[in-house]
Amino acid sequence: MSAPRLRIDHTDLDVSPVLYGCMKIGGSWTDEPLDREVIDRGLTCIRAALDGGVNFFDHADIYCRGKSEQVFALAWGELGLRREQVVLQSKCGIRRPDEPQGSPHRYDLSREHILWSVAQTLQRLKTDHLDILLLHRPDPLVQPEEVALAFEDLRSQRLVRYFGVSNHNAAQTALLQKALALPLVANQLEINLLHSDLIDEGVTVDSPQRTRLIGDGTIDHCRLHRMSIQAYSPVAKGRITSPPPDADDRTRSVSQAVHETARQRGCSADAVQLAWLLRHPGQIQPVLGSTDPQRIKGSLESMGMELTREEWYRLFTAGRGRALP
Ligand SMILES: NC(=O)c1ccc[n+]([C@@H]2O[C@H](COP(=O)([O-])OP(=O)(O)OC[C@H]3O[C@@H](n4cnc5c(N)ncnc54)[C@H](OP(=O)(O)O)[C@@H]3O)[C@@H](O)[C@H]2O)c1
Repeated sequence: MSAPRLRIDHTDLDVSPVLYGCMKIGGSWTDEPLDREVIDRGLTCIRAALDGGVNFFDHADIYCRGKSEQVFALAWGELGLRREQVVLQSKCGIRRPDEPQGSPHRYDLSREHILWSVAQTLQRLKTDHLDILLLHRPDPLVQPEEVALAFEDLRSQRLVRYFGVSNHNAAQTALLQKALALPLVANQLEINLLHSDLIDEGVTVDSPQRTRLIGDGTIDHCRLHRMSIQAYSPVAKGRITSPPPDADDRTRSVSQAVHETARQRGCSADAVQLAWLLRHPGQIQPVLGSTDPQRIKGSLESMGMELTREEWYRLFTAGRGRALP
């Protein structure tokens, strides 16, 4: 059976509904060089993702200080992976403290930094182009016209095909878009059953339950402009599947609901959490982050599932920890 694919709007990219997130495949976030054990573990994850039907891989320049991109590049030779088999996405814009010496942790969406970061990423990934580049986090000092110039340079040199954002709300996205020649194609946001605020705000518009403004319509903005939504930390880093001993009632309750659905469906608890995201009509694409081949395999069962409305709401309500308005 062929692996499921969906077309990302505004592009010619056909991708798996789930992305594999490469944040952890580089081992440590220190200067420690890559060793064979880390490389083998990373390649095993990539293999497990490919075998489970994934063709869409998420990176960032900062992941394991660039080592995650380096490990991925080894898949060309060691796994016989061909560039045209995969859709590669990376991110730029977060700068670590002390790079260069004495600098603070900061965001940098200047033209110079975007171009520099992409050049480094392409070298590490050993590829001549990225399919998608995301701006990792909003930079309060951003000049949209400068971003537009950087994107034009990258596009005209065929270094990047499409562009998107991450952790941006509706207004921030619209501000950038106004200066850009091409539509932004994706927004990567943190969404999971314990962190569903961006979805929740849609059901509490005029309710006393709405105590703070979260994303100001970010999900609907994406839908309106046909930007794909990518959900990072889709299983809340394992807190739902395996709640820690000090877990609160809400976590225990959503964990119970997830395990109950998994039992009824005969699938893994991870698959249920991903299927909950995939069921959203905004075509939410989970970015799977596990480095455990068995968990990767189990999670990817979600690509063949469609939760009912009743299952979806039962999980949503358990995760929000209070009844719907
Ligand atoms: N745009 C952004 O700002 C941003 C931020 C964070 C992440 N991301 C992207 O999103 C991807 C996924 O993020 P994430 O890693 O936070 O997502 P996640 O899939 O929610 O969490 C994965 C982590 O949780 C652990 N885990 C999963 N199930 C578990 C269980 N039952 N018991 C114990 N531990 C469990 C995994 O350990 P094992 O490895 O042992 O399975 C792994 O360390 C990243 O790789 C990256 O590509 C983007």
